[in-house]
Amino acid sequence: MSALKQNYKYILAIESSCDDTAVAVLRNTKVLSNVIHNQKIHSQYGGVVTELASRDHLIKILPTIEGALTDAKVKLNQIDAIAYTIGPGLIGSLLVGSATAKSLAMVLNVPLIEVHHMQAHLLAHFIDGVHNFPPAFPFLGVTLSGGHTQIAVVNSYFDMELIGTTIDDAIGEAFDKCGKILGLSYPSGPQIDDLSSWGNSRAFVFPIPKVNGLDLSYSGIKTAFRYFIEKNTKENKEFITNSLNDICASIQGTLIENIMRKIKVALKQTELDQVVFGGGVSANSELRRRCYASLGKIKCFFAPIEFTTDNAAMIGIAGYYKLQKRDFGNLKTTPKVRMAL
Ligand code: KG4
Ligand code: ZN
Repeated sequence: MSALKQNYKYILAIESSCDDTAVAVLRNTKVLSNVIHNQKIHSQYGGVVTELASRDHLIKILPTIEGALTDAKVKLNQIDAIAYTIGPGLIGSLLVGSATAKSLAMVLNVPLIEVHHMQAHLLAHFIDGVHNFPPAFPFLGVTLSGGHTQIAVVNSYFDMELIGTTIDDAIGEAFDKCGKILGLSYPSGPQIDDLSSWGNSRAFVFPIPKVNGLDLSYSGIKTAFRYFIEKNTKENKEFITNSLNDICASIQGTLIENIMRKIKVALKQTELDQVVFGGGVSANSELRRRCYASLGKIKCFFAPIEFTTDNAAMIGIAGYYKLQKRDFGNLKTTPKVRMAL
């Protein structure tokens, strides 16, 4: 693969770490297209079925690439570099994206760039037009997704120091599991968010686990929630139907309060004055409301929803900054299920 060109303009980015097949085309830091195929097939199973996810990526990856090129009005032979998600994620899903990215890079004779999915969630804030004044390093980075709940000190684009994480379930997983208990389809986070807007978050109280330092736990809240629903539906079969909005607002408030407490401690300890959010759960309206309402002078950065849940534009912007460093990948690297931040 050629790595000699000085100016790389057009980047084609591929994201396939979980259940979204996503492709974006960027001209430097500007997103020209951002196409996402959401796999609807998992909604009936209450979570991602890994084998079905990889099969669907295989079917959708080439049409999604074609769609992204068409939307961007860019031809494949104009592409200067291919960025793709190397991990963390589901191995079968990652392999589809990585094999496609490697084949394209070889055929086009352009550099290949390996991108860390969780770093990319935070780097989405540097996409052209996302903020008039993007975050300035260093800042506190908080990634909240279906598989991760991480608090990090972000010193530069690729220097991120993890200072807190979940010791069990991720916050998005907790949203989805609580939604499943309520009979909602997967992913339940956005539905709980919507239903909560008509509910009282103080209607029901759930315990917030005490975990040392900046780590946190979500599995205990989910278990307490299950027992609470079982007990109340035993007493009243219509409990969920009659109180759905209040139940959603109360569990959402608890899940958000858990991370808010740790963010406040982290801000105090690090003395940082900006907090930057990434990952699907950062779309949550209660999280956004509580941050603006309770963090005082701390500047909170949220990305638009299209760059918050999984997307390839964030892979492209991370790829752009790696290109500036001439940090190229190679054909031998295999995707990784787990990766340090
Ligand atoms: O970052 P993401 O798209 O994929 C992963 O990398 O996991 O995050 C997906 C997670 C799911 O658990 C989904 O329920 C949650 O983000 N989510 C939300 C909201 N939108 C998506 N959770 C709460 N409120 C939302 N508005
Ligand atoms: Zn993600």
